[in-house]
Amino acid sequence: MTVSINQNDIDLRIDINRLNRRLADLAAIGAIEGTEGCARLALTDEDKEGRDLVVTWMNDLGLDVTVDGIGNVVGVMAGQTDGPPVMCGSHIDTVRTGGRYDGNLGVLAGLEVVETLLAANITPPRPLAVAFFTDEEGARFAPDMLGSLVFVGGMALEEALDITGIDGCQVGPELERIGYDGTAPLPAAAPHAFVEVHVEQGPVLEAEGVTIGAVESVQGISWTEVTITGQSNHAGTTPMSMRRDPGFVAAAAANFARELAAELGAPQVATVGRIEFFPNLVNVVPSKATFTVDLRNTDEQVLKEAEARFNEFLQTTAAAEGCEVDTTSLARFEPVIFDPAVVDLVEATAVELGHSVKRMPSGAGHDAQMLARVCPTAMIFTPSVNGISHNPAEYTSPEDLEAGTNVLLHTMLALASTTELADV
Ligand code: GLV
Ligand code: MN
Ligand code: MN
Repeated sequence: MTVSINQNDIDLRIDINRLNRRLADLAAIGAIEGTEGCARLALTDEDKEGRDLVVTWMNDLGLDVTVDGIGNVVGVMAGQTDGPPVMCGSHIDTVRTGGRYDGNLGVLAGLEVVETLLAANITPPRPLAVAFFTDEEGARFAPDMLGSLVFVGGMALEEALDITGIDGCQVGPELERIGYDGTAPLPAAAPHAFVEVHVEQGPVLEAEGVTIGAVESVQGISWTEVTITGQSNHAGTTPMSMRRDPGFVAAAAANFARELAAELGAPQVATVGRIEFFPNLVNVVPSKATFTVDLRNTDEQVLKEAEARFNEFLQTTAAAEGCEVDTTSLARFEPVIFDPAVVDLVEATAVELGHSVKRMPSGAGHDAQMLARVCPTAMIFTPSVNGISHNPAEYTSPEDLEAGTNVLLHTMLALASTTELADV
């Protein structure tokens, strides 16, 4: 089915200054000195402070705020009728060296949509909801998109609460510690539809001079933690032929990941983002090396091939070096296709508002890919300057933030006017 743009209130526009003020106020929490970026790893003190601020804003706007058992927060604006809301949202946790837009934009743009409607005295035909989901980044607790995964019933709450993070802390106790172990039911009731506005985090829109991305899909993601064990020994006295060196195996695997991505070709990407040697000393052959590998592709079959070939290289290289290999899957999600009717609506809304628009896949993971399991879903991208993200230098111009948030506003209004969307 197609969803039409709602011509009522089509001249309504958001207030970019208000949105930018909220982005700046939130970015001040966990600010990384000398940069525009922030560090608010999930369930840390900084995350709690950021959550408290956004909840205050939700309450100030008169939203009905609930918190569930994994710490997802949903604020609902009443509509002319009851029933499942049109939901938007994203996350406010960041990587340790994050920008101020990744995730935060999707949440604060939602609040801006609500405030715009309140200021214009407009009650939407059905309720609207703004959500922020716990631990989207997965940088502290894997997998990524943890809160939205539990929200849609993709992981049991008990399993999620037991997850141990990179610092040895567990999700459950950390949620309790920061006071976000709520009671709203899980899995949550499916929204009527879900739309997430997010910065692209890649170079495509800027390079092509396009303002809005109508996101059609999200690529598959595979995260593995690898531990290699060998034998610690003296760096000066141990002949090369007698070494069982996990450091060498880890370095060779990192190099192979790069070669593998080049051989499989775009869109295959491969990243070794974390690596630790033990005891990590200049004159000691390590006894152990631990590293992560992040493999992604839009094509599930090619992603499976990448996983198999990486594992084969790992086993062969470790065996030749006399080392043992242990692997743990941290995250594995197949590629996701968004609802064509909602993607069409995002595209048509961008055109109606006078913006250039491109249908495109997402390279990054997003909460929307989890919501797509339970309701019609799509995303709106805005350009990222120089394609930089997961970096404090991440930047999107106010004009582009404004365009994306106006597209969100009118996409949500159109979805709120539909009745049978959930049957699409
Ligand atoms: C989440 O931000 C991811 O794509 O790694
Ligand atoms: Mn994000
Ligand atoms: Mn991110």
